[in-house]
Order: sequence, then C-alpha cells, then structure tokens
Amino acid sequence: MATLGFIGSGSIGTNLARLAVAAGINVVLSNSRGPETLAEAVAELGERAHAATPEEAARTGDWVVVSIPLAAYRKLPVAALAGKVVLDTINYYPMRDGHIEVLDSGKTTTSELVQEHLAGAKLVKAFNNISDHHIPSLARPAGAADRTALPIAGGDPQAKASAADLISRLGFDTVDGGPLTESWRFEPETAPYAAPYFTDPDAARAGWVQLAEALRSGNLPQTPPADPGAPLPAAQLRTLLAGTPRKLTADRVLA
Ligand SMILES: NC(=O)c1ccc[n+]([C@@H]2O[C@H](COP(=O)([O-])OP(=O)(O)OC[C@H]3O[C@@H](n4cnc5c(N)ncnc54)[C@H](OP(=O)(O)O)[C@@H]3O)[C@@H](O)[C@H]2O)c1
Repeated sequence: MATLGFIGSGSIGTNLARLAVAAGINVVLSNSRGPETLAEAVAELGERAHAATPEEAARTGDWVVVSIPLAAYRKLPVAALAGKVVLDTINYYPMRDGHIEVLDSGKTTTSELVQEHLAGAKLVKAFNNISDHHIPSLARPAGAADRTALPIAGGDPQAKASAADLISRLGFDTVDGGPLTESWRFEPETAPYAAPYFTDPDAARAGWVQLAEALRSGNLPQTPPADPGAPLPAAQLRTLLAGTPRKLTADRVLA
C-alpha cells in the first residue's frame, strides 16, 4: 500500500491528505509540535491516517510533501529524506519568512534553496501555486473534461514522473515547468500563480493589492467569501508559464 508522508500538516498538508485518503493512499502527518497535536486531523482522516515525527513521516513515505514556512526549511530532516521524491509546496513570503538576499536578488529560486539543503532528495516543486481552498474544489478524477492542471519542476525526470503520477491520483493533471532553475515561473505573483484558478482572476489580484494595503495600515479586511475556483486546462497553463515575467520581491504586491 502506498504511503504519502507530510512534513507540515497545516492548510495545504491536510487538504492534500484528504485527497490522498480518498484515493486509497495511506498518510503520515507530522508538524513541529508533535504527533499528539495531530489527533483531531488523524481522527477526521480515518484509518488510513497516522501521526508521527517529521523524521518518521519522511522515512515512511513513498513520497513526502514538505509544506512548512520557508523560514523553517533548514529543520527539514536531511538524512531521512535522502533518496525520496519530495514534493515542495513552499513559497517565499519575506513578511513571514524574513528577507533572504539570494531570493530577493533572483540569484536562486525557493525550491533550489530547499533542494540545496536536502542533499540526496529528489525535489519536485508542486502545489505551491494553488490556493488551499481550491485544492478540494478543483480536484477531479482522471479523464474528467474539466480537470485542472498544475505545474511541476525538478531536476530528476523519474522523480517528476512519479510526482505527476501521485498528483494525478490526487485529482490534477500536471505540466512540466522544467528544472528547478526555471521554477521562478510559478513563484508568487507570476502569471500562473493562484489567480488563474479563481473564477475572477483580476478580482483575485485586486484582492492582493487590498490585502497589502490593509497589512500596511493595520486594518485587516474581512475574509472574502470562499471562491469555488475555475478549472485551468493544461494548454492554458503552458501559455502562462511560457509568457510570465519573473517576479522578484521588489516587484511583488504581497511580500
Ligand atoms: N495556504 C495556501 O493557500 C498556500 C498555497 C500554496 C502554497 N503554500 C505554501 O505552503 C507552505 C504551507 O502553507 P500552509 O498554508 O499549509 O501553512 P500552515 O497552515 O501555517 O501550516 C504550516 C505547517 O508547517 C508545520 N511546521 C512549521 N515548522 C515546522 C517544522 N520545523 N517541522 C515540521 N513542521 C513544521 C506547522 O506545524 P506547527 O503548527 O506544529 O508549527 C504546520 O503544520 C507555506 O510555505 C506556504 O507559503 C500555501
């Protein structure tokens, strides 16, 4: 029986774990506070789910999703993840993670930084460009006419194929976005990032501007009603990936 490990079991981790369990895949959740704090999530997910430490989740998983704030990436267990296909959902938000010069300047990408730390792991950037609430609302069975495509990037073709197979079982098509050096193409605020999966992409982008202004002024806006999402076909995603300009920290609205 296949097992998907999770290091980070917050919003993205638990949404992916639900899809995995629905697809007949066992899941091992972990977080920073310890397995006992995941009892509720495990109970909701049912008998296919267990909680463990990050090291145990890494060793048990046939694939491992790392879904933590970038600021914590150096705590990822290097030895336990060596040889594993690691799906990296991490985004860089300086307001949360602190400034990292090599990312601000575009010398490297977020996933290259994580791969550099995880020597021996086969990193595949995935699920970073879709909002958490669109993961359940846009997942579809293989062959569905309205299936949504997600970009992946990585340096190991076999690892990418394995990740694509997993992602398909979870409910999404994939488009190969190239090696990790090209993964800036779907980092925050690029053309394929988050907005195209909203029913109104322009309104989603306008919402980021409002949120940035609200964060500056300290008056947080009310959370907008959940958007059901709009399927993004692979051909459209390819066009967005090919045409997007790079968005460095200084070019971003929310950073
Ligand atoms: N939310 C979105 O819509 C979205 C979309 C795409 C990508 N992302 C990116 O995906 C990542 C996760 O996002 P999220 O929204 O799921 O975050 P979240 O809800 O805040 O969850 C973060 C998880 O990471 C765990 N964690 C933190 N430090 C850890 C460590 N050293 N070892 C193990 N686990 C640790 C936390 O555990 P504790 O609570 O125990 O500390 C928590 O389970 C972020 O990089 C984010 O930018 C988010």
